[in-house]
Amino acid sequence: MGVQDSDPMNELKRMAAEEAAAMVQDGMAVGLGSGSTSAMMIDALGRRWAEGLRFVGIPTSERSADQARAHGITLVTFATHPQLDLAIDGADEVERGSLDLIKGLGGALFREKIVAAAARRFIVVVDESKLVDHLGSRVPVPVEVTSFGWESTARQLGDLGGRVAPRMDRNGGLFVTDGGNMILDCTFGPIADPPALAAAIRGVVGVVESGLFIHRTSEVIVAGRNGLTRLVA
Ligand code: 5RP
Repeated sequence: MGVQDSDPMNELKRMAAEEAAAMVQDGMAVGLGSGSTSAMMIDALGRRWAEGLRFVGIPTSERSADQARAHGITLVTFATHPQLDLAIDGADEVERGSLDLIKGLGGALFREKIVAAAARRFIVVVDESKLVDHLGSRVPVPVEVTSFGWESTARQLGDLGGRVAPRMDRNGGLFVTDGGNMILDCTFGPIADPPALAAAIRGVVGVVESGLFIHRTSEVIVAGRNGLTRLVA
């Protein structure tokens, strides 16, 4: 279980993930992110669970749910815990000035955004390669859309100025999210006004949610070659 290799950056990411996991205290309700960094964080929580820490988690993907269950971590739903103390997740890009994010290259953005929105504090863990001056510099904006009419949704997203490509799975079929939807990866290049673009994307019929996380981050823990840095919103 967990990611194990000799890449020194992975070791730093693991340290950052452990630092985030150390923020979880007894009795908390915690959002559990998705992706390789979150997997390290869930493993760190699993080790703390084995030492006696007790909390409840809401996972952002079936994969994270399986991983948490394998550690014996108690999972709950929003029915009993509509508000979370903390959510911890990775990101694909972090804008240095605003700490706004692009998320969703792993395909879990919709559940990730619901969990982040439900949390009093949203902690993001990344390595320094994810820091950018402008969102969209390195990765597309993933947009979760309904499969019905996706071609029309894609055309309208293209009208916003992006190059739009449906996400494919490993077998060459259309990628399907945990919620049964599709992802359109929209390449805009460096985005001048992320809040305005996020609002415009949400205005397109057929869009479920975008991977632009605006004004949601409480703190970013950055793993860098010179150690860990904490950026606070
Ligand atoms: C999944 C995500 C992930 O948090 C993001 O892709 C970062 O993943 P990793 O830690 O593997 O780089 O948004 O939807």
